[in-house]
Amino acid sequence: MKYISFIFSIVFVSLGVACTHMKKEKTMEDIIDTAFRTAIQQYSLMAESLIESDSLLPRTYQDGKLVTSNSHWWCSGFFPGSLWYLYEYSKDDKILSYARQYTSRIEREKYTTDNHDIGFMLYCSFGNGLRLTGEESYKEVLYTGSKSLATRYNPRVGLIRSWDFNENVWQYPVIIDNLMNLEMLLWAAKTFKDSTFKEICISHADKTMEHHYRNNYSCYHVVSYDTLTNKPHLKDTHQGYAKESTWSRGQAWGLYAYTFLYRETNDRKYLEQAKSIAQFLLHHPHMPKDYIPYWDFDAPDIPNALRDASAAAIMASGLIELSNYVDHELSTEYIKVAETQLRTLSSPEYTAKIGENGNFILKHSVGHFRENSEVDVPLTYADYYYLEALMRYKKMILESYK
Ligand code: GLY
Repeated sequence: MKYISFIFSIVFVSLGVACTHMKKEKTMEDIIDTAFRTAIQQYSLMAESLIESDSLLPRTYQDGKLVTSNSHWWCSGFFPGSLWYLYEYSKDDKILSYARQYTSRIEREKYTTDNHDIGFMLYCSFGNGLRLTGEESYKEVLYTGSKSLATRYNPRVGLIRSWDFNENVWQYPVIIDNLMNLEMLLWAAKTFKDSTFKEICISHADKTMEHHYRNNYSCYHVVSYDTLTNKPHLKDTHQGYAKESTWSRGQAWGLYAYTFLYRETNDRKYLEQAKSIAQFLLHHPHMPKDYIPYWDFDAPDIPNALRDASAAAIMASGLIELSNYVDHELSTEYIKVAETQLRTLSSPEYTAKIGENGNFILKHSVGHFRENSEVDVPLTYADYYYLEALMRYKKMILESYK
């Protein structure tokens, strides 16, 4: 009898130890290291697969095929930008050489004046390259690109025009995403002591705050301005579920952008705006527990609606930066949410196995649901903001406590 109870206690103790062991969460340090190591392998395969062409960039992976773009697609800068983050993490010369090569593929976009996406294209690629290498020639690209972007600013309206299509409906369309391009202009204002760039940014940011946001700090995707009165004549959506719905990625763009607007201007109204946008996102009844948003907060099929990993990645990166500018309680909340998002995105549900997913890092993003384009696929900007968020977490949270 004594012998049997001895055996039982051994079994129970072993089970207890095994359970405790199973429950032990990986540290964020481990999550970040594993994620970067996986990403380096995936993106090295991606870089090699397109190295022979001198102009192609990855866009997505659909129906078992890699979809590429040329430099004029709004996302062209994200793949080179991700390579820069991988270089920042690894200091590997091979990755540096990929980063330089793919960055050079989009230099010609510095002359782009037919849309507002120049900041996305150039600041993620050349901007990160300049930050990490100090390469002087990259400054010229960013300066010329900033001047091109500024040509889309109409001082009477006080905003940078986003798009030139759909002219029968939108007289002067400005989309919420456009805020993201301001980071490059703020850099140009500072670097070249050119106050015009800053004035453009402030006016664009202020008018967007006034006209894009509803009282609950959700935003419209598209606001079109009447070019005679310079006031909005239409509030609309292009990629969201409906005019009055909240498109998740748009909401994430706003959070991210008002955070860097506060960093660069020190104007507290932008900080308050970012905090209010975060409040909407974090406490929305349709926000899932793992904080990976549905593609639209008002999608009619919630809880079965698709999630958008790209919105989660942008949010995580924005929240990590914002956590530096707020009181302890809010800071803890923002970091906790970003950590949950990064843990979820780093799990097998969202992170692809090496060699799968067309060599993209993350699965399950939604590009343009209404047009059934890039739905539940990998996207370069999900990967970019995921890597940026991991790097920010490493530098702003892990290393700042050491
Ligand atoms: N800027 C376009 C998008 O977020 O889909």
